[in-house]
Amino acid sequence: MTDTYLNTQSSLSMKGSGYYSAKTAGAKNAIDKTQKVIENALQTIPSNEILKFADFGSADGGTSQEMWSNIIKIIRDKGDNRQIEILYTDLASNDFSTLFKTMQGMHGNANFAFQKNFKNIYVHGCGTGFHEQLMSDDSLTLGFSATAMHYVSERPCLIENHVHMTGANESEKKLFTKQANKDWETILLNRSKELIKGGRFICINFGIDEQGRCLGNTGGHIMFNNFSKNWKYLEDQGIISNQEYINATFTQHYRTVEEFRAPFDNKDSAISKSGLILKSCETMITECPYKIHYLNNKNTMSPQDYARTLIPTMRSWSETVFRNALVDRTEREINEIVDKFYNLYIDEVSNDPEGHAMDYVHVIMDIEKAY
Ligand SMILES: C[S@@+](CC[C@H](N)C(=O)[O-])C[C@H]1O[C@@H](n2cnc3c(N)ncnc32)[C@H](O)[C@@H]1O
Repeated sequence: MTDTYLNTQSSLSMKGSGYYSAKTAGAKNAIDKTQKVIENALQTIPSNEILKFADFGSADGGTSQEMWSNIIKIIRDKGDNRQIEILYTDLASNDFSTLFKTMQGMHGNANFAFQKNFKNIYVHGCGTGFHEQLMSDDSLTLGFSATAMHYVSERPCLIENHVHMTGANESEKKLFTKQANKDWETILLNRSKELIKGGRFICINFGIDEQGRCLGNTGGHIMFNNFSKNWKYLEDQGIISNQEYINATFTQHYRTVEEFRAPFDNKDSAISKSGLILKSCETMITECPYKIHYLNNKNTMSPQDYARTLIPTMRSWSETVFRNALVDRTEREINEIVDKFYNLYIDEVSNDPEGHAMDYVHVIMDIEKAY
């Protein structure tokens, strides 16, 4: 069954050419809300000659650009002119070209093109996954990661009757949990090697909060259930096969707060022994910006207008899962099927938008390499 156990690299990528950042205002809002945590961390980080930052799982860099630009401005406004290296990491398939253009002011909002707007800023890219060590030992001042580490390094199984682990059966869920725990340990041990003593790793990850909420599941319709329902509908209509239904399994695990905390709470764990400590861990809801916009503009926007803004944001990160699930299809067929799939969701929201949204649920962690 090796062909069904795809690794993350081959089954995942955000849509390119800046589409990801253009359609994910909520991800940007979540990052912007985290700026204070980074500012606070920087106040206590030892002053090395060079500041080395890293943004793990950065996609095209657009969503975190304003935050990094603000951080660099704060550093420079204090009269701190130290050289700053910033490493953007993602999978090799990522659209690094848009990322480099964005930082140089050739794409996106040039006001935040910090490489151009400030002196002594060195932008690098790394196309190796964050489950591996990406920088030399003892070199990273401050690592950051947003909305990326829910991707597990390997899909431990295909999910028979759903598309996401949040709807998987108990035995499938166990396999995902086991994989996610193993990955979390690997991620942390490698960050621990990279960080300087006193350095920080701040990450905001998708997860399940204390009330059981997660992305697209904060009270109304449950987004992943809708994906599953509509994908099943295509199977029922004979448009896709049962295997293609099953193949659409997100290579993701939403960790609970306990799962995130576990290696820190255990003082004998490899993570604790490596010198990492958890300074804070909180959950955060970021309301769906498209929902807010619609609710504030109901007099000029139709439910269909809302649907046509909401579904593209879901499509920006989920489309590859459904495309890759299709077997032996022409490009044209794939496009038709995937369009039909997302149009079902658009139709549903257009008919009755009540309870449809993609609120973000994050777990924010501030981790220090204490010794
Ligand atoms: C939802 S996007 C988030 C992008 C950006 N950090 C943000 O918050 O808007 C997730 C990103 O994580 C990347 N990613 C997934 N698995 C990865 C891995 N093992 N190593 C590096 N990046 C990975 C994806 O390619 C994608 O660009």
